[in-house]
Amino acid sequence: MSVKPIFFALDGKELNEFKKPLEKLKGVIYGVKVGLEMFTAEGPSSVEKLKNDGWKVFLDLKLHDIPHTVQAATVSAGNIGADYLTIHIASEKEALSAATQSKPKNLQLLGVSSALTSKAFSDTTSKKVENDFMIAKQIGIDGVICPASEIVKTKKLYDLIITPGIRLKTDSNDDQKNITTPAKAIDMGAKYIVMGRSIRKNMNYIINHLDIWKN
Ligand code: C5P
Repeated sequence: MSVKPIFFALDGKELNEFKKPLEKLKGVIYGVKVGLEMFTAEGPSSVEKLKNDGWKVFLDLKLHDIPHTVQAATVSAGNIGADYLTIHIASEKEALSAATQSKPKNLQLLGVSSALTSKAFSDTTSKKVENDFMIAKQIGIDGVICPASEIVKTKKLYDLIITPGIRLKTDSNDDQKNITTPAKAIDMGAKYIVMGRSIRKNMNYIINHLDIWKN
């Protein structure tokens, strides 16, 4: 069985809440995403435990600060074992460059545009995302967090495209507006997708119907 290109978003305060789903998903999906909620509640130990259990860890801290601080936080994220770290492209170019130049080898930097999947997309936001991603590319950021509607365009710039806002056809959208299905995101060119609530709601279906994922 090949591992599916999915990061499970651990959107909660305690890693313990996810013990059972993580056991079920081991070997089925590629990695997990630790966000601000868990990282501020549990600190680096959440990342370290996940790494000890053999997970690829995507640390979603969306760094946005002065160059010195961004650089130091990037080094720290690499040192605790994170494989991927998000950084706001709205940060100063100096901050993005500092992070790129100082990141440890095990860490890939992912650029985040201020356009979120919880907002409907317009031509203006689409252009802003394109412009942000061009800046990220010029500076040497490894990949981007890319809304579904922008994947095809972004493919010209980036191979490492990670797309949140994923729902099965039967799911509710919740607060997400720019959404697509797992198979469509991969077909359009996303390398990985991020799924949170959809995995939690459909765990048994997801474990037992692996054909819904594209290999
Ligand atoms: O539950 P759901 O699948 O909607 O969760 C999506 C995850 O992806 C959340 O952790 C959210 O913070 C993150 N995310 C997002 N849209 C972005 C960037 C990150 O939904 N543009």
